[in-house]
Amino acid sequence: MHVFIVYAHPSEDSFTRQARDKFIEGLLAAGHSYVLSDLYKMNFKADLSEAEYLRDANYRDYPPVAADVLEEQRKINACDALVFIYPVFWTEAPAKLVGWFDRVWTYGFAYGERGMKRLDKALCLCIAGKSPEDLERCGELAAMRSVMLGDRIADRAAAGQMIVLGSTAKKNMQAREANWDKNLQTAFRAGLEL
Ligand SMILES: Cc1cc2nc3c(=O)[nH]c(=O)nc-3n(C[C@H](O)[C@H](O)[C@H](O)COP(=O)(O)O)c2cc1C
Repeated sequence: MHVFIVYAHPSEDSFTRQARDKFIEGLLAAGHSYVLSDLYKMNFKADLSEAEYLRDANYRDYPPVAADVLEEQRKINACDALVFIYPVFWTEAPAKLVGWFDRVWTYGFAYGERGMKRLDKALCLCIAGKSPEDLERCGELAAMRSVMLGDRIADRAAAGQMIVLGSTAKKNMQAREANWDKNLQTAFRAGLEL
């Protein structure tokens, strides 16, 4: 498969960055190819302009879609699977990635008369400070699944999956270190078994 990875973490010095590299190792070991958008590195513009808002809220086809958005849409239509790798910030993706959806999921591409191909698979690999059990108990995992897979992906992919690598918060170094290898193995396997 050809995989488009949308990655959003502001720092290279992070567990998320290591999880991303392990995931890619797994992908390559399975014989997949990939292309990467590193949203912070690209300085991807995450805020919708007024003109973009008016186009997408009023369902009209002007102004033309911006070149940076067209490039992201081209990568989507050239891939079989779309993978999001990001840390959980306040039970959401970082604002940079939320803004990516605001701008890239345009009218005429992701809704309306869709130009977007139907993908084989969409995967969210989320890195969380809390443990998966805590996220589940508070309903936060269900909320994240509902927003990412239920709304943003929905029927745009034949299969959707969310994998959470948990207990990575620096304020609980003991749990972060205890789960480090297991989490990296999960990331590797996610790439291998995509
Ligand atoms: C602004 C901010 C908000 C965060 N919100 C959450 C949250 O809602 N739930 C959670 O489990 N972790 C949360 N975290 C922890 C991050 O997911 C954290 O970045 C994660 O432990 C990954 O570590 P890394 O940054 O070294 O990759 C938050 C961190 C920051 C900086």
